[in-house]
Amino acid sequence: MLGDLKNKTALVTGGASGIGRGICLALAEQGAKVAVADRNVEGTEQVAADVAKTGVATLAIRVDVTNQASVDEMVAKVVDAWGQVDILVNDAGVIGGPQWWDRDENTQEDWTYTFDVNVRGLVMATDAAAVHMKKRKSGKVINIASIAALRGGPDYPHYNASKAAVVSYTKSVAIQLGPHSINVNAICPGLLWTPMWERISQRQSRSGVNAALHGLSQRELFDKVVADTTPLKREQTPRDIGKMAAFLASDDAMNITGQAFVVDGGFTAGG
Ligand SMILES: NC(=O)c1ccc[n+]([C@@H]2O[C@H](COP(=O)([O-])OP(=O)(O)OC[C@H]3O[C@@H](n4cnc5c(N)ncnc54)[C@H](O)[C@@H]3O)[C@@H](O)[C@H]2O)c1
Repeated sequence: MLGDLKNKTALVTGGASGIGRGICLALAEQGAKVAVADRNVEGTEQVAADVAKTGVATLAIRVDVTNQASVDEMVAKVVDAWGQVDILVNDAGVIGGPQWWDRDENTQEDWTYTFDVNVRGLVMATDAAAVHMKKRKSGKVINIASIAALRGGPDYPHYNASKAAVVSYTKSVAIQLGPHSINVNAICPGLLWTPMWERISQRQSRSGVNAALHGLSQRELFDKVVADTTPLKREQTPRDIGKMAAFLASDDAMNITGQAFVVDGGFTAGG
């Protein structure tokens, strides 16, 4: 059973797509008002419309999490509308720099761009929301990391390192904010067929990047990775991650902080 989120307000960055959308809907179904925030305006408005269908209040907010003024404005909009930010989900993320999937080699820009969004953006949003959570001595922050945080890999080391930083930061900020009754946890999703994975498979199915996978369609490649690496032999879904987020956002999880929860069908069970 998932926690009750009635009378709670949630702000979800990266809410316009994939996992963020699943989290928005799961929180809404538990009764939270949900502010959908993303740099993708069209997607943000679409997800806000989907959230509204569940019967809760919603906001669509354009944000670039790498821009301090934009992040401050995002949090201010939620506080102005609803008076409080109870739940912040930091989901906005990228796998590499612009057009990463069209290149065979990683560049320094992949490092700076990925850390800017996945780490610095997440820190800025947390700091901005924590100002309000501290005043109310209550709050839940949920950071979307990845199984990539827990192991190395040859394809996108900048991404693995950025997600390891998210798990590390989650522990530190949980210690900082714990005395204010603010819980901070991370979720490490496994393999989900979202626009992000479409880009990964677009790169890997190209000749010269991964010979074993060359020639497969993007979806076939994803299915092969799931079958080869996941003991449960099934992909994860945005709703799987949303359910974990809804639990961590609820009072049922009030004694859990500084942890990273893996939802991966067993991908990491083998080490
Ligand atoms: N898909 C997977 O298998 C998987 C696995 C583990 C972790 N994740 C993580 O889950 C999160 C969501 O990924 P997804 O798979 O749903 O991908 P996605 O590309 O569908 O969603 C990412 C969202 O982040 C938004 N975004 C990117 N940069 C932004 C910025 N500067 N400001 C505001 N919004 C920005 C995008 O517009 C997009 O809506 C990411 O943090 C990703 O690293 C994904």
